[in-house]
Amino acid sequence: MSVRETVELDLDRIDALIAREEAELEPKHRGSIEYRKVAERTVAGGVASSWQDAPPHAIYIDHGQGNRLWDIDGNEYIDFHLGYGAMVAGHAHPKIVEAIERQARRGTHFAQPTRDLDAVGENLVDRFGLPLWRFCNSGTEATLEAARLMRAATGRDVLIKIEGTYHGHHDSLMFSVIPDPDLIGPREHPVTLPQALGIPKAFGELVRVVPFNDLAEVARALDEHEGNVAGMIVEPAMMNCGVIMPEPGYLQGLKDLLHARGAFLAFDEVKTGATIAYGGAVEAFGVTPDIVCLAKAIGGGLPCGAIGATEELFGPVVRGDYDMAGTFNGNPLTMAASRACLTEVLTRDAYEQFDAVHRVLVEGCTRAIERFGLPAYVTGMGAKGSVIYSATPVREYRDTIGIDERITYLAWLFQQNRGVFKSPWSKQETWTTSVFHTEEDAQRYVANFEEFAEAVTA
Ligand SMILES: Cc1ncc(COP(=O)(O)O)c(C=O)c1O
Repeated sequence: MSVRETVELDLDRIDALIAREEAELEPKHRGSIEYRKVAERTVAGGVASSWQDAPPHAIYIDHGQGNRLWDIDGNEYIDFHLGYGAMVAGHAHPKIVEAIERQARRGTHFAQPTRDLDAVGENLVDRFGLPLWRFCNSGTEATLEAARLMRAATGRDVLIKIEGTYHGHHDSLMFSVIPDPDLIGPREHPVTLPQALGIPKAFGELVRVVPFNDLAEVARALDEHEGNVAGMIVEPAMMNCGVIMPEPGYLQGLKDLLHARGAFLAFDEVKTGATIAYGGAVEAFGVTPDIVCLAKAIGGGLPCGAIGATEELFGPVVRGDYDMAGTFNGNPLTMAASRACLTEVLTRDAYEQFDAVHRVLVEGCTRAIERFGLPAYVTGMGAKGSVIYSATPVREYRDTIGIDERITYLAWLFQQNRGVFKSPWSKQETWTTSVFHTEEDAQRYVANFEEFAEAVTA
C-alpha cells in the first residue's frame, strides 16, 4: 500500500451524520421495532442470538431470494450480510431447495448415518486436503472438538489463540475476542480475558493469547509453556476485525514452530472455508494444518459444522476411544443441503464469479478512498472483504483499537438507507457475496460507499 495524503475525520460531523441517517432509517423499520416488543414478551431480548440485536435496533427478516433480502416492513436490500457469511450459495438456491424438499419428504432426522456422508466427505477432502471428517451443527461445535482433539492427542492442556479472534461461544476458547483495550495488558503478554460472563477463570489459565502475524510471540508462548501446549487455533485470515490477511510465511511458520514442539495447528475456517477460495485458506495460502474447522458456507443455509483432521488425530475417534458425538450430527437435511451446496453450487466456477465481483468492490471502494482522502483501505479475497478505516495497514487486533466505531456504524447506516444490507457490528464484520451477486450489485455498494466517503470528508 502506497503512502498517500488522508484527511482527518471530524467526529462531530460523523455524529451529526449518524443522527441524520438514524432518523431516516427509523420510519422504514416501524414493523421491526413493533414486532420486537411482541417477541420480547417471551423471548429474552426479543432475539434468538444476542448478536442479532445490533444498533440501532434489531431488523426482522421476512424472506430472501438469491442476492436479495426483504425485511418485515417490506424493504428490499441487496444482501451483503448473507447470514454472517453463511449464504454464499445465495438465498433459496433452487438446487438446495430441491435437495432439502426431497429429503424433508423422506424424513428429517434419524440420528443414524445416511448416504450423503461420503459425497460431502469426498468433496471436503478435495477442497482441504485432510483425509478424515466428522460433521456437527455449528462452528462452535467444530472448534470445541478441535480443542479437545488436540488435547486428547497430546495429553497437554494449554491452547494458543490469537488476540481478537472468535472461535464460537464454548468455554475453551471464548477469550480475548474483542478484549477491552484498558485490560489487555502488554503485547508480549496479553491478558486472557473471558468474553462473556460466567466463563470460569480457571479455563483462561489454559489459554495463551498471542498477537496475529507474529511468529516470535508464538515461539515465546511455546517457550513459556514448554511441554504443555497441545496446539494452536488460528483463523488463517482474521475475519472478525474486518479482514486481516496473514503475512507471507506466517501460517507455514506456525506449523513448523508447533510441530517442532509436538503440538498441533488447527485452522478455524468457519468464515474463510469455501468462501475465499474453493479450498478456503488451505488452498489460498498453500498450508495444510492438522485440523480444519468448517461451518457457515458449507451447509447451504442449514445449521452445519465439520471438522477435518489427519488420520493420527482422528485415530482415537476411529478406534472408539474418543466419542465425538451429537444427536443432530450429520442430520439428513443438513447433509442433503451440504451435498448440493458443495457439489452443485459452490463449484470452481463460482469462485471466478466471486473474484470478478470482488474486483469491482475493491477497485470502486479504493477509487473513492483515494478521491476523498479517506484514511482507509480495502482488503479481502473471493466472496469476503471489508474496508478497514485505518490509513496504515492493520496486522493484528491491537491495530484496530484506534478505529472509531462511529465511522463503521455510519458506513453501515449509509448502506442500509440505500438498499444494501451489510453485516451489523461492521467494525468487526466483513461483506460477503453470493453466487447470485453481480457486478451491478457491487457497483451499487460502491456508489453508496462513495456517497459516504464524500459526506464524511466534506
Ligand atoms: C471464525 C469463527 N469461528 C467460529 C464461529 C462460531 O460459529 P457458529 O456461530 O456457527 O457457532 C464463528 C461465528 O461467527 C466464526 O466467525
